[in-house]
Amino acid sequence: MKTTALITGASRGIGAEFAKIFAENGTDLVLTARSEQDLLDLKQEIESKYSVSVKTIVRDLSNSIEVQSLFDEIKTSGITINYLINNAGFGDYAYFENSKWKRHESMINLNVNALTHLCHLFITEWGD
Ligand SMILES: NC(=O)c1ccc[n+]([C@@H]2O[C@H](COP(=O)([O-])OP(=O)(O)OC[C@H]3O[C@@H](n4cnc5c(N)ncnc54)[C@H](OP(=O)(O)O)[C@@H]3O)[C@@H](O)[C@H]2O)c1
Repeated sequence: MKTTALITGASRGIGAEFAKIFAENGTDLVLTARSEQDLLDLKQEIESKYSVSVKTIVRDLSNSIEVQSLFDEIKTSGITINYLINNAGFGDYAYFENSKWKRHESMINLNVNALTHLCHLFITEWGD
């Protein structure tokens, strides 16, 4: 049976490596991040090596509207997601008093809200 994995933060680093591992095991992919060209390059690399299909969706997941629209686009495309890899995230390295609030806000939105939101959407709304 064909399965599909959604991998967030798939444009580079650990997310891109997850994508290759799933592809090697025959799993189709939905890859998302903000960097469109990096996603397209990875799609081309994976589809040329493995017998899987790769869909790319560009989104900024620190924005809850884009989290919702990522879910909506996958759902309306008719793809069934079997694995959700909540990999997108980043860290910050600075004394708290020297740090910028906008950066904290973006980090909390991405590292906490987006992945919780995606889990909630896939668990509660997938079958509707
Ligand atoms: N590497 C480590 O030692 C380490 C240690 C602890 C935790 N982690 C966590 O493991 C995960 C992967 O780490 P990594 O080292 O592979 O990180 P990375 O190389 O910085 O990659 C992060 C990925 O997240 C995506 N991303 C960042 N901001 C985003 C946003 N606002 N919306 C959508 N996608 C976004 C990036 O793509 P775009 O920039 O194209 O959007 C990229 O694909 C992260 O959550 C990181 O915090 C890593």
